[in-house]
Amino acid sequence: MNIIKILNVSFFTLLSAGMCERRNQVYMLKMDQALLTFHNELPYNITVYYTSDYCYKCLYQPLATVENGHNISVVVSTQFTLTLRIAPVDGNSTLCSLSQTFEEAGHYSLWMRQSGLLNDVTCSLTVDRSPNNAYLPLLAAFLILASVTVFWASLPCILRCSCTQRLRKRICLFCCHRSQNSMEMEEANDEHCVDKSKTKSSRLKSLDTFRGFSLTVMVFVNYGGGGYWFFQHAPWNGLTVADLVMPWFVFIIGTSVVLAFNSMHRKGVPWLQLLRKVTWRTIVLMLIGFCFMNYSPRDGFLSWSWLRIPGVLQRLGFTYFVLAVMQTFSPHREIPLREHNWWNPIQDMVLYWPEWLIIVLLETMWLCLTFLLPVPNCPTGYLGAGGIGDDGLYPNCTGGAAAYIDRWLFGDNIFWYPTCKVLYHTTEPFDPEGVLGTINSIVMGFFGMQAGKILLFFHKMNKGILARFLIWGLILGISAAILSKCTRDEGFIPVNKNLWSLSFVTCMGCLSFLLLGVMYFVVDVKEWWGGQPFIYPGMNSIFVYVGHSLLGFYFPFSWEMRFQDSHWEKLFQNMWGTALWVFIAYLLYRKKFFLKI
Ligand SMILES: *[C@@H]1O[C@H](CO)[C@@H](O)[C@H](O)[C@H]1NC(C)=O
Ligand SMILES: *[C@@H]1O[C@H](CO)[C@@H](O)[C@H](O)[C@H]1NC(C)=O
Ligand SMILES: *[C@@H]1O[C@H](CO)[C@@H](O)[C@H](O)[C@H]1NC(C)=O
Ligand SMILES: *[C@@H]1O[C@H](CO)[C@@H](O)[C@H](O)[C@H]1NC(C)=O
Repeated sequence: MNIIKILNVSFFTLLSAGMCERRNQVYMLKMDQALLTFHNELPYNITVYYTSDYCYKCLYQPLATVENGHNISVVVSTQFTLTLRIAPVDGNSTLCSLSQTFEEAGHYSLWMRQSGLLNDVTCSLTVDRSPNNAYLPLLAAFLILASVTVFWASLPCILRCSCTQRLRKRICLFCCHRSQNSMEMEEANDEHCVDKSKTKSSRLKSLDTFRGFSLTVMVFVNYGGGGYWFFQHAPWNGLTVADLVMPWFVFIIGTSVVLAFNSMHRKGVPWLQLLRKVTWRTIVLMLIGFCFMNYSPRDGFLSWSWLRIPGVLQRLGFTYFVLAVMQTFSPHREIPLREHNWWNPIQDMVLYWPEWLIIVLLETMWLCLTFLLPVPNCPTGYLGAGGIGDDGLYPNCTGGAAAYIDRWLFGDNIFWYPTCKVLYHTTEPFDPEGVLGTINSIVMGFFGMQAGKILLFFHKMNKGILARFLIWGLILGISAAILSKCTRDEGFIPVNKNLWSLSFVTCMGCLSFLLLGVMYFVVDVKEWWGGQPFIYPGMNSIFVYVGHSLLGFYFPFSWEMRFQDSHWEKLFQNMWGTALWVFIAYLLYRKKFFLKI
């Protein structure tokens, strides 16, 4: 049996190779893969079925058929716990089943034997070759980053303590030069400033830091996140690091809209001019998203024929537009308020009641459409992934009403490779940046606006600001916990980035308030940290975003990997690419180049 058969059954690469000794020469295990050999010592043929524990209520899928007295090797994914079910070929009774998390590069054997007087079947798992620790690269990366941070933080002290007089002078000169630079920069950047007084205005550094942090994580995650599943989008329900980034952006957009509009109001920019600027920006964002982002070398040229109408930048642009128009038409307030009302502690909300009304109406619309819109051949209010999920009852219902609305509006010009496709074996397209989710992205941006209003209204009352951020974080966090019942799949509304479900938005709102609060405290209140290095990409976000999308898959940002059997090279490559973009942003900052649209 020298015939090697490599079938592509979903995320399992199946391999049936008879010759054990030749196996390794023929098939190199890649990262997140293990080799599993079934030894059938029963007097009949069996079929092995599998399902992944991450796949909610999924049907068992056939993995391999093993003839009696033979063995078969398959390559299995090590990302999630697998449940294996052994059944006779002709029949559906379960002989045995087991749940196991396989580990990277391990070789496992599953022995099926008859034992005892009653001919009971026993399945026993043995480890033939011990696995690698897949998290070692992560630990190394963490230690390196931590030591670089510590070194960087202690650098000024080291210099101060041990430098010669001459060197110290030079460094002092350098420092003065730098701080002068940044002063000029602040003047150049009059946008989203919190006006402290008429003469001095300072940019809110924590917001730039937050934006830069999100962008850095986004670049890392888009480059592949070291190949770890938790740095990639969740297959359907659930929350991974990759899912955090976009809502953070939306939140930041909301905050910047409030701060920027406030300073423009103060300068007396007429609303018509504001509106023109907003419209122009939206159009440019959408055009960039529409023309460039659909194309990336990785997609191949096919991406032109499957022109995708919704997209990340389109959604960001539209959300920005709605938030900005809302802010343009809400009357400008002279703050802080002079008179004393009982509602003064929540003046940041009461004064904007029309905006609240709009948001409540929008959210009601989302809930109604999601849960009441009848979708042909699908249950009303379906939130699942379809495919083999939910016991395979609704294979074509991926995304329920959200997908239905998108298909109705855009036809086939939506995203064809949703994150659930592989795990759930779905066939229908589903766009994670669809129309229905945009409603909730506006709500998310509104939370960001709320943060901006808090910063304005309670200016110089840092305790008040931080307390409000904390309260908002708590309220949103608790509502997310209730909505999702603190589970991944069983909640009233599961946390889901594909659908931008309500619980996802409240959960992310909670995280955003807390994170911005911490950064505000550390960067702006205490000034312990200047936000480096995140502040550099944060001040050039469009440039870095577009740049990394267009150039990301060329040298020197990435290259063809030589060692695909572990996470080491992948993680290094992705961190290298990310660091390079941060460095480019730093150079642009030094050159005072800021791409604005
Ligand atoms: C197992 O399958 C093989 C080929 O598929 C067949 O030749 C053999 O007779 C089967 N064995 C039993 C015990 O059914
Ligand atoms: C698998 O079966 C082949 C014969 O079909 C045998 O030569 C080989 O040793 C077996 N491998 C293992 C690991 O038992
Ligand atoms: C097993 O097969 C029998 C008939 O072959 C069928 O009636 C029964 O529903 C099957 N059970 C399952 C769980 O598929
Ligand atoms: C799902 O769609 C496919 C083709 O797109 C069709 O063949 C199949 O019958 C549909 N399944 C259901 C349950 O509607």
